[in-house]
Amino acid sequence: MENFEFYSPTCFVFGKDTESKAGELVKRFGGSKVLIHYGGGSVVRSGLLDRVKASLDKENIPYVELGGVKPNPRSGLVYEGIDLCRKENVDFVLAVGGGSTIDSSKAIAAGVVYDGDFWDFYQGKRIEKALSVGTILTIAAAGSEGSPDTVITKEEGMFKRGASGDAVRPKFSILNPALTQTLPAYQTAAGITDIMAHLYERYLTNSTDVEVTDRLIEALLLTMKHEGPRVIADPNNYEARANIMWAGMMAHNNSCGVGRSQDWNSHTIEHELSALYDCAHGAGLAVTMPAVFTYTMDHNVMRFAQAAVRIWGCQMDFEHPEVTAKEGIEAFRNFLSSIGMPKNFEELGAKEEDIPKLVEVLCRGDGRDGSISGFVTLNEDDCTKIYKMMV
Ligand code: NZQ
Ligand code: ZN
Repeated sequence: MENFEFYSPTCFVFGKDTESKAGELVKRFGGSKVLIHYGGGSVVRSGLLDRVKASLDKENIPYVELGGVKPNPRSGLVYEGIDLCRKENVDFVLAVGGGSTIDSSKAIAAGVVYDGDFWDFYQGKRIEKALSVGTILTIAAAGSEGSPDTVITKEEGMFKRGASGDAVRPKFSILNPALTQTLPAYQTAAGITDIMAHLYERYLTNSTDVEVTDRLIEALLLTMKHEGPRVIADPNNYEARANIMWAGMMAHNNSCGVGRSQDWNSHTIEHELSALYDCAHGAGLAVTMPAVFTYTMDHNVMRFAQAAVRIWGCQMDFEHPEVTAKEGIEAFRNFLSSIGMPKNFEELGAKEEDIPKLVEVLCRGDGRDGSISGFVTLNEDDCTKIYKMMV
């Protein structure tokens, strides 16, 4: 196990009707004027936004609103949010929605107190200072409710890039599983896939003797394997949604990733797909992961064989561990397909002729040096082959 620091100071308030505590929590964490940030309207239609406003009113906390965050959130609205917060002297950004809304909120919170262009953070500058952020989560997926990360797409060039810093870890996150019951099945499944991806990206490690995190990841993947189909079969299954929601947080606040190197090649490769085609990030991952795993399997075949046995119940073939490893990858692919996720470019809406463009932006775009690295380092040729495996 490698040395690490783990700092995860978010207060999680979990369960039914917990959104009614929004005002009280903003007050507890020092907010005196709030920006309520939200997406394309699901929180308006469900009545959640009104309940949140009522909770702020009850505590006499003034607020301004900015809706319109798109899935795969864009830089344009972030600039708008920064201007609005400065003009209105906002000191607390409250995200009401999914990962996209939370990430846009984090970008605004970091940008308001920064003199330069907020995009600097998405080109590698660490976020050291930000307004306080709180979240009310409506989809179990990205894990942004407990993570120090934010992913934004710069409209000029359509670069989808991540930034990070403990300053944007939410001060509090309200997790009410019942709020996720209005999700369309496809979004629920995309969320399940993203959560499983966050676990796999940590499982694929070059560190040794990381039994505790290996076992935590396996437990969460087994939970997702059990609860995923239950929630697809019955969208109103509160208990299944509750387990998935907490697994989604655990998968990405890094309690499962400490002390070990991590992969993230699947995420990096997928981000070009959701940037170009505006597909759901989880759906892009469903197509990307089996290809990346198959391509990189030989780097440590026993890691994949271990996942196959412990998670997918495959029988270990000690003479040919690569057979077991492949079976595990196939079982994962079939699972994702069974919950309604796409298996290939066509089902995702991606095009083979775009592969050179995808590889160019992936490996060279926005200052990259021709390769990406994680569990293994992949150059342009490798990435071309991986995208071709998805066709
Ligand atoms: O915009 P609205 O109208 O709210 O609709 C959203 C959106 O269309 C809808 N939705 C959300 N909750 C709903 C609902 N519809 C009905 N009922 C509800 N309760 O679902 C759609 C997707 O929402 P979005 O916020 O985009 O989903 P998700 O949470 O999957 O976020 C995806 C974004 O997070 C990034 C992804 O790249 C992508 O841009 N990620 C962020 C990470 C982080 N910050 O740590 C890590 C992840 O790996 C990921 O990259
Ligand atoms: Zn993800």
